Amino acid sequence: MALRIGFATQKGGPGKSTCARGTAVGFAQNKWAVKLADFDLNQSTSTRWHQRRLQRGHQPEVAVEQFGSIAHALARADDYDVMIFDGAPLASKSTATMAEACDLLVIPTGLSVDDLDPAVELADALHHKHGIPLERIAFALNHVGDSQAELEEAREYLSQKPYHVLDGYLAQKVSYSRAMDVGLSVIEVSHKGLRAQAEQLISAIIQRATALQSK
Ligand SMILES: Nc1ncnc2c1ncn2[C@@H]1O[C@H](COP(=O)(O)OP(=O)(O)OP(=O)(O)O)[C@@H](O)[C@H]1O
Ligand SMILES: [Mg+2]
Repeated sequence: MALRIGFATQKGGPGKSTCARGTAVGFAQNKWAVKLADFDLNQSTSTRWHQRRLQRGHQPEVAVEQFGSIAHALARADDYDVMIFDGAPLASKSTATMAEACDLLVIPTGLSVDDLDPAVELADALHHKHGIPLERIAFALNHVGDSQAELEEAREYLSQKPYHVLDGYLAQKVSYSRAMDVGLSVIEVSHKGLRAQAEQLISAIIQRATALQSK
């Protein structure tokens, strides 16, 4: 059975598809057979990005496919080393099903209280209502602005919650969105510093998930 990593949020737009694509490319760079499962049937963000990636011939290739249900995706899990689940925009019943199926469920969030509160609420619901173990839920910081104080306060706020907070973060940068516009991921931007920063977060996701798989 493949290693399974899901990306889910209650709010729209905090970076599920961004982190999912970066994680998929990170595994592919390490020669893992990756399937990125796109559950966003309306926007098809990862699927459209895959087309742009193929059209431009970027390597490594990452297999992307749309699935209407978690069960359907899981039926293919033996064909891959890792399956990455890019969740639909708003948390729903399928989010719990996704979390139950995953070794690691990542909740990307911005730094404002408007973003942090719903992220924690989703984690609480998954843990308390659906029995997802604490250690399998992790927050990833995204859309980080130029205030160090805001970043530290967000980390402090999340550190008081019982869930894992991943090392690293994604700054809010045009370089990242422009890279994804041409089929690249956040760990493939040409700016070395930004690439290294993104690699720190993506490596943290990969390490956390692989450590949990062996449990
Ligand atoms: N760190 C960043 N810097 C710049 N742009 C970003 C960053 N992270 C995400 N974006 C952009 O923000 C938008 C939302 O990101 P993304 O699609 O990853 O979020 P999502 O959680 O998948 O959204 P949805 O809920 O609609 O599925 C996209 O246009 C993406 O390119
Ligand atoms: Mg998305």
